[in-house]
Amino acid sequence: MTDAQNNTRKPDPCSFVIFGVTGDLAHRLVMPALYNLAASNLLPEKFCVVGIARKATSADELREGLLAGLKKFATRPIDDAIARQLLECVTSIEADPEDPASFDRMREQLDALEERRQTGGNRLFYLATPPDGFAPIARELGRTGMLQENGSWRRLVVEKPFGTDLESAKKLNADLLEILTEHQIYRIDHYLGKETVQNILVLRFANGMFEPIWNRNHIDHVQITVDEKLGVGHRGSFYDATGALRDMVPNHLFQLLSLVAMEPPTRFDAHSVRAEKANVLAAIQLQSEAEALHNSVRGQYIGGTVDDTVIEDYHKTKDVANGSTTETYAALKLIIDNWRWAGVPFYLRTGKALATKRTEVAIKFKQAPFAMFQGTPVEALSHNYLVIGVEPNEGIALQFNTKVPGPAIKIDGVEMKFRYKDYFKAQPSTGYETLIYDCMIGDNILFQRADSVEAGWCAVEPFLDAWKNAGSSGLKSYRAGSEGPVEADELMARDGRSWRKLG
Ligand code: BG6
Repeated sequence: MTDAQNNTRKPDPCSFVIFGVTGDLAHRLVMPALYNLAASNLLPEKFCVVGIARKATSADELREGLLAGLKKFATRPIDDAIARQLLECVTSIEADPEDPASFDRMREQLDALEERRQTGGNRLFYLATPPDGFAPIARELGRTGMLQENGSWRRLVVEKPFGTDLESAKKLNADLLEILTEHQIYRIDHYLGKETVQNILVLRFANGMFEPIWNRNHIDHVQITVDEKLGVGHRGSFYDATGALRDMVPNHLFQLLSLVAMEPPTRFDAHSVRAEKANVLAAIQLQSEAEALHNSVRGQYIGGTVDDTVIEDYHKTKDVANGSTTETYAALKLIIDNWRWAGVPFYLRTGKALATKRTEVAIKFKQAPFAMFQGTPVEALSHNYLVIGVEPNEGIALQFNTKVPGPAIKIDGVEMKFRYKDYFKAQPSTGYETLIYDCMIGDNILFQRADSVEAGWCAVEPFLDAWKNAGSSGLKSYRAGSEGPVEADELMARDGRSWRKLG
């Protein structure tokens, strides 16, 4: 959230109801984001935060815990007056989906609170809980009528994972859509909260020069990289059941892919943008298991050093099963089977415990014909890349060939760079501010629609199945602190291509 956004309209009065208020997500991201919104004067005038916990907690106890969290995770210095004002809005209510009567009591308490706070009955229910809580909580909210929109709005926010495969994603969508309509559901993918990710749309569609060449006539291939330095750390139990593919690809990497590959929407509104994103995901060619094995690499890290930190073998991580075949690295080659992209491979890679922390999209343009330079000292032309740096080098770089000054014909690759930090001063944020603000104003352009979620799972399912059936065979190792398994380089080399070096 930049200060320039301060002229944005304030959301309607509302209650912000957090399930899982004592958990990590609420402390680390949701409350600091609410604080940043408060500091930018972007919270409603009439507002209350209701923390829902399974066991009774007093409002004071809850406020104390949230304040400690704010101090620890705030992205900017805390102004006591703003923090106090925000925490004064906090109340606590006890409710547990396993005890339906507690939801009946919750409804009464919420009605009374809203009467006092004059929030007009608008409610945002934020499910900051483990995913097995989503459907039971929604069911109880639905049963007690708390999600019914009668002249006021009622919205439900859910965080990834939206299922763990196609079947479970369909089930979750069906469960939620039995109780709510699609416009009430806000599926958060935090990648869409990143300015640089949102900027892909602007880069493509607010400039006249990119779109005419953004297709198979001019683009050779696209590389999407999300490399992380951190190992799995204390998340062994979650990660071992999930793996790199499920954790990152159908959600975060596909957000990047769909923004890069979608057709121009007719309008910059939720309906048009989300429809085009869903269309392009549905156009990803479904691979057979054999093709999926051929077009993918999965790896698991073994002990090594990242910067100065020693990372132990993945399989020694706490809560990771003995002999686990869970991948901590995944590389895939995908084909989007439509008129714009047929024949242009999209290479995706992501992993933990790698040499660099880097998220970027690199678009490689087709090589210029070399004939003209034959018979000159030029040995090769360097590649034309357009690189969209998402993190940590937020910006855009264009690589092209230029003549080296001097009497002989020599050509070298150079780079033209735009860096966000050179042009804009943004307040450090959690990345959740825009998403939470958008939920409160009812704009779901940055949220995932049910069909996109399902199309994403559909595209990765062949890889999940092929890897499951292959067991430990085909699982490659790579050293923590390296650039990933060498087989990922071979995946590209086989097509006469190579990954961009990220060092
Ligand atoms: C989360 C994954 O969704 O995204 C994590 O569960 C991963 O495993 C994280 O580390 C990456 O997010 P970012 O914003 O740091 O790229």
